Amino acid sequence: MTEALPFGLSHVDEGLAERLRTGLDDVELALRKAVTSDYPFVTETSSHLVNAGGKRFRPLLALVAAQYGDPDAPGNIPGAVVAELTHLATLYHDDVMDEAPLRRGAPSANARWDNTVAILTGDFLFARAADIAADLGTDIVRLQARTFERLCTGQIRETVGPAEGEDAVAHHLDVLAGKTGSLIAAAGRMGAMTSGAPESVAVAIAAYGEKFGIAFQLSDDILDIASESEDSGKTPGTDLREGIRTLPVLLALRSTDPEWARLRELVSGPLVDDDLHAEALGLIRLSPALAEAREEVVRWAESARAELAPLPPGPVTDALSQMCDVVVDRSV
Ligand code: IPE
Ligand code: IPE
Ligand code: MG
Ligand code: MG
Repeated sequence: MTEALPFGLSHVDEGLAERLRTGLDDVELALRKAVTSDYPFVTETSSHLVNAGGKRFRPLLALVAAQYGDPDAPGNIPGAVVAELTHLATLYHDDVMDEAPLRRGAPSANARWDNTVAILTGDFLFARAADIAADLGTDIVRLQARTFERLCTGQIRETVGPAEGEDAVAHHLDVLAGKTGSLIAAAGRMGAMTSGAPESVAVAIAAYGEKFGIAFQLSDDILDIASESEDSGKTPGTDLREGIRTLPVLLALRSTDPEWARLRELVSGPLVDDDLHAEALGLIRLSPALAEAREEVVRWAESARAELAPLPPGPVTDALSQMCDVVVDRSV
């Protein structure tokens, strides 16, 4: 049996799948090299989450996008590595902010060492990403910088919350576009750019990636509530514990149905008490709010798919379309 592609992509044209597997192997080698420092402790901390696993979704998307240009262009692998290193760095920082104990099935860097080590390792990874981007030219450096700017702004806006009178759901969707859509869009654009694909392709893939990224984050937030186990490699229920209002919580808070008053009371703040946390998780799993959030994933996945219309039909565009099915499947 041939090895599956990341992200459960199982119906990709075999020739394409083989090229992507080879590319991902090269990405893996380049990633290990990128996280090696002259100072062994830095190598240890920055290899920690690379070795722990992860789906490598962003490099996969960059490599898929690179099929629209020259699939063997020398910048394709480093470009995919820049996308993954940027992602990785944000994970180190995100786990500090979310006080998350587990990442990719391993202790988070903040749990294994401390916040200082986790933050500085994230910074080190950004530096390595910038170094590799520099070899790819100014346009790629700018793409990475502007993406990172949007990502941080999204994270800050999440922390601050909606302004007085601002619609909480609209604010939340903007946050997701910033903190997650931006990097997934950039990964697609990266592959189009490094492979020399036409600008119209880069524009379509970036539009697709941005919407797909929103669906991806929404499904991830649903998994945080709905998954019973630590299959995701993260600790379920972290968002509720931290009082992070993801879409199911926002929709629950918006409802006026007296049947769900207890849920609204519970989820209106952080849930540090284990019994209250378990009660809230149990209730929200059964709530119409969770079902509505799943419908929102479908809507974003379908609008991502619609962005594929200008792209040439064939196995590559089919693979991008399949990603929309996977993102929906993983949230049900
Ligand atoms: C986690 O991303 C952060 C989100 C945007 C939800 P992934 O789900 O791609 O994490 P890894 O790379 O597989 O660990
Ligand atoms: C995603 O935020 C992390 C970034 C986009 C930087 P979350 O906090 O929702 O992601 P997980 O659940 O920890 O992976
Ligand atoms: Mg987090
Ligand atoms: Mg977070």
